[in-house]
Amino acid sequence: MQIKAMLVLLAAAASAGAWAQDPDAARPIVIKFSHVVAPDTPKGRAAERFKELAEQMTDGKVKVEVYPNSSLYKDREELEALQLGAVQMLAPSLAKFSPLGVREFEAFDLPYIFPSKAALYAVTEGRIGKNLLRKLEPKGITGLAYWDNGFKVMSANRPLLAPKDFKGLRMRIQASKVLDAQMRALGARPQVLAFSEAASALRDGVVEGSENTPSNMYTQGMHETQTHLTVSNHGYLGYAVIVNKKFWDGLPANIRATLERAMREATAYQKTIAQRTNDAALESIRGAGTTTIHQLTPQQQTEWRRALLPVYGQMETRIGKDIMRAISQEVRR
Ligand code: LMR
Repeated sequence: MQIKAMLVLLAAAASAGAWAQDPDAARPIVIKFSHVVAPDTPKGRAAERFKELAEQMTDGKVKVEVYPNSSLYKDREELEALQLGAVQMLAPSLAKFSPLGVREFEAFDLPYIFPSKAALYAVTEGRIGKNLLRKLEPKGITGLAYWDNGFKVMSANRPLLAPKDFKGLRMRIQASKVLDAQMRALGARPQVLAFSEAASALRDGVVEGSENTPSNMYTQGMHETQTHLTVSNHGYLGYAVIVNKKFWDGLPANIRATLERAMREATAYQKTIAQRTNDAALESIRGAGTTTIHQLTPQQQTEWRRALLPVYGQMETRIGKDIMRAISQEVRR
């Protein structure tokens, strides 16, 4: 008994001593933030901004390590890594949430769903956006914010001006059934590829065309192997910033509150740079001289809209009638 009591006392003294000198005691909380795009994109720049704000606002108690360009994980792997706690923060595109079993996010991929950025923000910043993020909680994920990229363009090695121009074209898409249906409605052959593989697949002819925002295309050098680009604005690409729930809930309350503030500021900053970054990227593509840029006439736009309308009916059961109706009502207000 006595020996046991002594051992307990010794262990307590040793650990108290270790605590006093432990370099770990001053070690910052590390947030690994993994993403798949280049640093000079709306998401890449906002991730860096969040890092700066979080580190500064917590006086260095939190360190944010940003890993861009799939340097840690590719699309699907990063979601698994987040759930396992190998990374703490991600911002996957809203098209990539269905492997988690939350298909409602694919509503954001519906063709022409958002007539403007204002309509988009009404959804993401309102009740619908908040309810969607809440659906991630049972998956061990907390949704913190929506980040913006922009409206998508189409690219290929031939002009894409009318739906008939897509016939038989192998088009790279993100892993979303709505995007699959969209490409099929245009007569193309969709192929799901991780973002990290898209540029090389275009170069090697594995796929013949793609859709993305100008900033994603330019920073991956996709324009170098795509001779035509159509500013179609036919769909939207945006993100949800998400964290591992257990990690987030386990943070000291004051640190979590400070990080929430840093995230609010980074999100506000993100909104101011998304459009500008994409406009600049489109100009850089034009300047590179590799790619002819097409604008659609009003008549061509009507033709695209008509061709893509059936996607709504096809996807209703998958996404859910209620959420589709709620978004449609919100964007028309
Ligand atoms: C894509 O896969 O094309 C995009 O989701 C990449 C991104 O994160 O913007």
